[in-house]
Parts: sequence; structure tokens; C-alpha cells
Amino acid sequence: MPRFRIFRFDPEADKAPWYRTYTVDAGPGERILDCLNKIKWEQDGTLGYRMSCAHGVCGSDGMRINGVCALACQKLVKDYAGVEEIRLEPLPFFQVRKDLIVDMDDFLDRVRSMRPYLVREESPPEKESLQSPEDHAKVEDAIRCILCACCTSACPVMWENPDYVGPAALVWAYRYLYDSRDSAFRSRLEKLNEPNSVWPCANYFECTRVCPKNIPITKSINFMKREIKKFEFPQKIE
Ligand code: SF4
Ligand code: FES
Repeated sequence: MPRFRIFRFDPEADKAPWYRTYTVDAGPGERILDCLNKIKWEQDGTLGYRMSCAHGVCGSDGMRINGVCALACQKLVKDYAGVEEIRLEPLPFFQVRKDLIVDMDDFLDRVRSMRPYLVREESPPEKESLQSPEDHAKVEDAIRCILCACCTSACPVMWENPDYVGPAALVWAYRYLYDSRDSAFRSRLEKLNEPNSVWPCANYFECTRVCPKNIPITKSINFMKREIKKFEFPQKIE
């Protein structure tokens, strides 16, 4: 039976974080999220964590599992076979609201700063705004982002420079920069040339390693750096 050591912290009641251990009656094929549900429903209703879809779609159950940022619904008990205790902690870098729940406002503000929507010069069409399969292919990796925040939490640069916008925001920047229906290419590129946009990325590749949707994040950031270098901006880059 897997044993879990879970980070607990209620800012309204606790002076400091603490850990509690739980043993769960769960088979090797059960998900870490299933185990959390069993703990909450059968042992300790005070445990706080987020979940919704349970199928890797909503992005709400990102957490640190044995030191690695991941979705609890995509990891199985057997992935930790031989591990004495499975350690569950909130995503690093962001403020803890309660137990495994972090404040996502700051993360979402970073994404919003990249204008994650189509900017168009002409008025929108009456029906769908169509895109060819070839144009769609240019952004299809980035479109898979579910805003789980695992990449931004895992990025070592966030600790060195908390003002760095972070990898997830840059995935959304990429997604609209190369969308054939968008009209703001130049101003998006200017935004990306700001000191805390693409340039702090130091190619640690942690974001790419932890992304549950296998988005080639670091590669996309490097691609945008090369794109910026093709333009002559007033601000000096690097
Ligand atoms: Fe999560 Fe990947 Fe999107 Fe980052 S890029 S928020 S790791 S899905
Ligand atoms: Fe929705 Fe895991 S619960 S992604």
C-alpha cells in the first residue's frame, strides 16, 4: 500500500508548513489523484488540492510529486514503485493558499501580459475564422497548453529573476505570434524583446522536461529569440 507524505499549510491557522503521512489502499494502476481523493474522502477531509477533469485536460492538479512538477491525474502509483514515501508538495515559486493549492493569479497575469487572444486589423468574419492545415501546424504544439503552470514552477530562472515572465506565458506568446489570423506580429515581437520576456531563458530545459502536454517549450523560446534578431528594434538585445 503506497505511503504519502503530504505538505500541509493553512496560512490562517499554521505558523509554518508541516507534513502528514497517509497510507492508502491503492493498486499500482491507480492514479496519484485517485489516492488523494481516497485520503480526502476516507481519512482527512481537511486536505486541500485542486482537481476537475481527472484526465489531463483542465490543468488544475499540477503539484510537485517527489520533487518533480507534474499532474496528479497523469501519474500512477506504479510510477513510484520502490519509493518508500511519495512526497506531494505544492508547485514551487507560487504562494500557497492551502496545502497543495497555490495562488494562480500571478501566473495567469504573466500569461495575460502576452495578449493570449487574436488581435485583428479587419473586423472579424461572421462565422469561423478559418485557417489552413499548414498554418495550423505551425502552432499546434503550443495550442495544447492547459495552463497547469508546471513549466513556470519548474524553471530555475524564476528563482534567479522573479520578474521573468516564464515559459508558459512564452508558449502563449508563440501560439499567437505565429497564428496566421493575427495582425500584431510586429508589436508581439517588440513585447518579446523586453528584458524579462524571452531573454532571461537560459536553456535549462526544465520546462520542456515537465510539460505534461509535451510542448517543445525551450525550442519555441529559442525560435522566438532568433525571430527577434532578424528585426531592428531600438532597444538593444542581449
Ligand atoms: Fe503546463 Fe506545458 Fe502549458 Fe507549461 S506549457 S502551462 S507545462 S501545459
Ligand atoms: Fe484536470 Fe488533472 S484534474 S488535468
